[in-house]
Amino acid sequence: MSTAEKTFSKGLEGVIAAQTEMSFINGTEGILEYVGIAIGDLASKSSFEETVFLLWNKRLPSRSELESFTQSLRANYGLCDEMITQIKSLPTDAEPMHVIRTMISMLSLYDTNPNENSVEAAREKALNILAVTPMIVAAFDRHRRGLEVVAPDASLGFAANFLYMLNGEKPTDAMIRAFDICMITHADHGLNNSTFAARVVISTLSDVYSAITAAVGSLRGPLHGGANEGVMKMLNLIPSVDDAEDHVMNMIKNKERIMGFGHRVYKSKDPRASELMTLAKQLADDTGNMDLYLKSNAIENIMEREYASKGIYPNVDFYSATTYHCIGLKLDLFTPMFVLARIAGWSGHVIEQLGDNRLFRPTTDYVGPHAAPYVSIDDR
Ligand code: ACO
Repeated sequence: MSTAEKTFSKGLEGVIAAQTEMSFINGTEGILEYVGIAIGDLASKSSFEETVFLLWNKRLPSRSELESFTQSLRANYGLCDEMITQIKSLPTDAEPMHVIRTMISMLSLYDTNPNENSVEAAREKALNILAVTPMIVAAFDRHRRGLEVVAPDASLGFAANFLYMLNGEKPTDAMIRAFDICMITHADHGLNNSTFAARVVISTLSDVYSAITAAVGSLRGPLHGGANEGVMKMLNLIPSVDDAEDHVMNMIKNKERIMGFGHRVYKSKDPRASELMTLAKQLADDTGNMDLYLKSNAIENIMEREYASKGIYPNVDFYSATTYHCIGLKLDLFTPMFVLARIAGWSGHVIEQLGDNRLFRPTTDYVGPHAAPYVSIDDR
């Protein structure tokens, strides 16, 4: 390609850098589909396990295929003793996202063949990473609270098992379903920053662990998955619904970004935000957190008035905050929940990339000087 044909797009906006059969997004109309199925249908009718099968196989499973996939996932729930010992040695004030990034990287040390990159091997590694990461999060959280690590229960589904390992007691059906919906809505989302990071890394034929580790590092940024924690911090700073107007208008006056709003692709309401809004309202009602939902709703109305003309609407992180709070999760576990779900998408993209790989190697627009004299250090 000649220099004249090369184009520059800051932040790669609008650049098509990969093909996928997993998720389709129409940002103008607010549509998200996984393998052609509307996210709303999956959120209301499917399970996380079925959604992962769909993303990895590009079709819904038969009953027996789903059963077999679920059993394989459950068979992988447990972490090896060495990993649990490592988790118990971590500083109790470490941030969970740093812990997850470190421990997923460490999983490669206990894989006898970490560099095997056939599509089949990548699928097995992905299944294992997906299955054990909930235990990494739950075990670390219990370690920092001075509690015994709870072993996984293979009779439980993905959502129920995580909440059980975290709290040491079986969750209610309502909590399991709510958590499962969060997992479904966060499972995949085109070539977002963390997914791109995963694809870039695996395109060097590095290894699945390195790719997922890079993706975790990307996701924790406040402009990406870390925004859900930012939303909760903002909600905590607003004493009541009546204070929302002044608080948000002050933020706008100070040119602060309102976390949970805006999206590179969506210029209308993120359909995941719509799903999570309904869920947040129900959970807030069930758990006595209606004030949180009402504050969120008031912020959404103010933002609609002030920013809808710029195409800035709630994104997936906005109502996740209320949802996760109502599920009983601590603030610094919000972004880790995004990880648990998004491992499905990252892995699916890694598998797609390995199936038809070409090294990612874009170029830069050099804007520095040319033919500059080398001035010796004594003369500078
Ligand atoms: N609050 C206030 N203003 C905003 C917001 C916001 N949340 N989002 C965008 N804007 C404004 C910017 O200030 C900028 O205004 P200007 O043109 O007057 O300078 C304009 O909209 C465009 O902003 P960019 O950052 O260039 O747009 P981009 O497409 O990169 O934005 C992003 C996407 C980074 C997500 C942005 O909307 C943002 O920072 N949102 C808050 C953080 C957040 O919620 N992130 C989660 C996104 S979803 C996800 O990653 C899972």
